[in-house]
Amino acid sequence: MRTDVSNGFADSGAHGLVFAPNAVRRSAELVGLIDLRMETRGAGPTVRRSATTTVRYLGATPWILLILAGAPFAAMADDRSLSPADRAAQTLARMTESEKLALVHGRLGAPWGGHRKPDGAIGSAGFVAGAPRLGVPALQETDAELGIANPGDIRRGDGATAMPSNLALASTWNEALARRQGEAVASEARARGFNLLLGGAVNLVRDPRGGRDFEYFSEDPLLSGIMTGATVAGARSRHVLTTVKHFALNDQETNRAALDVRVDLAAARESDLLAFEIAIEHGHPGAVMCAYNLINGVHACENPWLLSAVLKGDWRYPGFVMSDWGAAHSTVAAALAGLDQESGAQLDARDFFGPPLAQAVAEGRALQSRLNDMARRILTSIYAAGLVDDPPHFDPTGPASAEQTALEIEREGAVLLRNQGLLPLAAETRSIAVIGARADAGTLAGGGSSQVAPRGGVAAKVQIDKDHAEIFDPSSPLAAIRKQFPRAQVVWDDGRDVARAVKAAAAAEVAIVFADQWRTEGADVVGIALPNGQDRLIDAVARANPRAAVVLETGGPVAMPWLQRTAAVIEAWYPGQRGGEAIADILSGAANPSGRLPVTFPAALAQLPHPVLPGDLRLDGAPNAAGGRTFSAEYREGALVGYKWFVAKGERPLFPFGFGLSYTRFSLEDLSVKVEGVRVQAQATVRNVGDRVGAATPQFYVSLPAGAGAAPRLVGWQKVELQPGEARTVSVPLDPRLLASFDEAARRWRVAAGTYALSAGFDVERRQLSTPVTMGALELPP
Ligand code: BGC
Repeated sequence: MRTDVSNGFADSGAHGLVFAPNAVRRSAELVGLIDLRMETRGAGPTVRRSATTTVRYLGATPWILLILAGAPFAAMADDRSLSPADRAAQTLARMTESEKLALVHGRLGAPWGGHRKPDGAIGSAGFVAGAPRLGVPALQETDAELGIANPGDIRRGDGATAMPSNLALASTWNEALARRQGEAVASEARARGFNLLLGGAVNLVRDPRGGRDFEYFSEDPLLSGIMTGATVAGARSRHVLTTVKHFALNDQETNRAALDVRVDLAAARESDLLAFEIAIEHGHPGAVMCAYNLINGVHACENPWLLSAVLKGDWRYPGFVMSDWGAAHSTVAAALAGLDQESGAQLDARDFFGPPLAQAVAEGRALQSRLNDMARRILTSIYAAGLVDDPPHFDPTGPASAEQTALEIEREGAVLLRNQGLLPLAAETRSIAVIGARADAGTLAGGGSSQVAPRGGVAAKVQIDKDHAEIFDPSSPLAAIRKQFPRAQVVWDDGRDVARAVKAAAAAEVAIVFADQWRTEGADVVGIALPNGQDRLIDAVARANPRAAVVLETGGPVAMPWLQRTAAVIEAWYPGQRGGEAIADILSGAANPSGRLPVTFPAALAQLPHPVLPGDLRLDGAPNAAGGRTFSAEYREGALVGYKWFVAKGERPLFPFGFGLSYTRFSLEDLSVKVEGVRVQAQATVRNVGDRVGAATPQFYVSLPAGAGAAPRLVGWQKVELQPGEARTVSVPLDPRLLASFDEAARRWRVAAGTYALSAGFDVERRQLSTPVTMGALELPP
């Protein structure tokens, strides 16, 4: 039992984070988010000037000087007319052995665990020394999925824009917005001197209990690949080196370092790996981060099938593979399998790519050519990303445009799940009771390495245990609701005392209950019930006032036993830096909700492929802590992830993939398809048949011919904003891999001859249009 200091509820165990403290100790140490953030509040803006730039940032820290010290790198840049590969080859030819070895050996970028901060490190998750003599910059590596992290407040007072969770971003189904997210985060990274962004978390949401589901995008390979790829492309356009991670099948946190995923290789290619493949094609990341877990008995970071056969072989990936922090397990095996760079080496059991690699290279020619290949790949990515030609510098428009982007993502990413005519709230609403989940202070953020210290400081902190706290971003929904409804009397109740909250709800014309669920890297949640007695609170409020709306701030799908009693439900995910305003915009109708679920909300855990999450809680999930022991998770469901599983098994979820309501209504007509060899184009006409402007997201799915499995696959979508009465014909090209099965023995995609069913609709359950598509047999390269 734990006591939640936020609202005084005694936890009945429903929240029940699975982790043993050991499992997350390392991440707590690394992330170190817990104690110092509160002190960062109120740090005033400081203005410094250099000869060329005016730098405005929060807090007074010396790290900015390091950026200026990095300027000479640019002056040493070599011939820009050459290709990145040629420039890399030239530089490699001039490198000493120890310069090459330095490039493949990453260390922690901060003084954690008694380790010294490397000279020149700005202060962040990772640092790799460059080769200053040759104009090769050091790699300053920061976590950057949801904004620029500042673990342990290492850069004192340095707050950055906290983006809404990636589930919120994916819910927008808006590739352009995902690209802007990447641009905004990269611009804030550069302002701090970072040139390598640890982002692009493209793992599939395979289970609704995943501790990192909020960092990931979706359960579908196409949606995840395209949206993640767009963030990476956006960041890359700002001349930073980016990653995609965690390669691959790192889909749960329970015992993540001891987890041996047993999966059919073809099924892996059609699901998790396809998401990576598409993200890489769209984003061109400079690096791929290999994951903690094992795949079919071999650790991801020393898995030749994964790194050499698939990534560098079949996909012809030209960049480099870096290990996750603590995920490297060997020197020779890892190097020969395809690992190019060890990260945060102090967290590995040994300094594998330090002195042991130097020794192995001295002893054997195979390792010598691999070392050259590793260094060449890293250098190629450095030149290709523009790190030499355009080193980090400050963009004065960065913070304001990043905050605007955060606001727009949440406005488009919040999903309206239920509306019995309550929303949008009438402008003349006289009284509103706002209840629960610290909505007076801000909105919840997820924990772990992706956690951002928000600009303006943490709004509230709820201590969970010695090492962990829930952090709230500083955008108060209560204040924003007051602003949107200036004529209403808006009362606040913290929800700690259910009877008191019920009284406030009953006395008001409308009740808005906020409920949250914290998730963190390093631990899955045990179930999908809301924690801390919040179901009881919502149920009681909804009984007291039939005009009750629920706003959820969760890190993934949750159960809603009170659903039928409520008048409206909004899934706001983790809403980020301007989340309160976005929520108020949706409540008032200033924004018409257009978010669509990127994950299935199950009705019960029994419906899932793994009703009990695979794991052995006696094992510690921290890197290297299991003492070499592993346990298997059998992915018998193969590529039937999320909605595909539900449809194949005939299970009805609480809310299906792709679902989301609007304040207007749309119709879909005239589905047609054109096939010319491998080129398949689907089209349909979408019409706004309501009376408000709004955005629709018609989705296209394909079911393979009988025998190949009847589960539909998302093959395309388009998000379109329509005026009342307006119609638009949308047309999407179909990726032939989505019509194919993977033949692992032949290493080929195969489209079988036969009749496919193309369907279109507004979610996977409401596919009202369908048409047959006849395909001839096709074979495609991997
Ligand atoms: C996470 C990565 C992160 C790294 C550095 C690891 O624990 O899995 O996503 O980039 O730490 O902070």
